[in-house]
Amino acid sequence: MTIANEDLINAAKEARRNAYNRYSNFAVGAAIIDDRGHLHVGCNVENAAYPLGSCAEAGAIAAMVLQGGRKIAKIAVVGGSQEIGPCTPCGGCRQRIHEFADEHTIILAIDDTGDFREFSIKELLAASFHLP
Ligand code: THU
Repeated sequence: MTIANEDLINAAKEARRNAYNRYSNFAVGAAIIDDRGHLHVGCNVENAAYPLGSCAEAGAIAAMVLQGGRKIAKIAVVGGSQEIGPCTPCGGCRQRIHEFADEHTIILAIDDTGDFREFSIKELLAASFHLP
């Protein structure tokens, strides 16, 4: 598995262009490279019944699982702005990523200026809940 950060970030930016974000006006794109080297993308999809909206990471993870992927090598999340900084995954998405992550998984959080921060899942979700 090898993919340049830049290529993964560009895939997330492309996905972000399709965000359905009419209620928050906050667009997010996510791109995953799985441990087989396959690419999967997602964007946030909102709903008039607000709690039914789904995050970009959830879409990308669902796409990965549908294609048989079970391990996230790297995930790029593009959102945010210079004002608020890179869009780190929300709490729920940290748990979603955790399900398909290991100690090698890299999480990139990127704002729309291209600035990014890199995390492990342990940094984002300490003392995580998991089942045997
Ligand atoms: N959102 C994501 O897609 N991913 C995150 O990790 C943070 C939040 C979306 C959900 C909602 O559509 C919008 O951003 C504002 O919260």
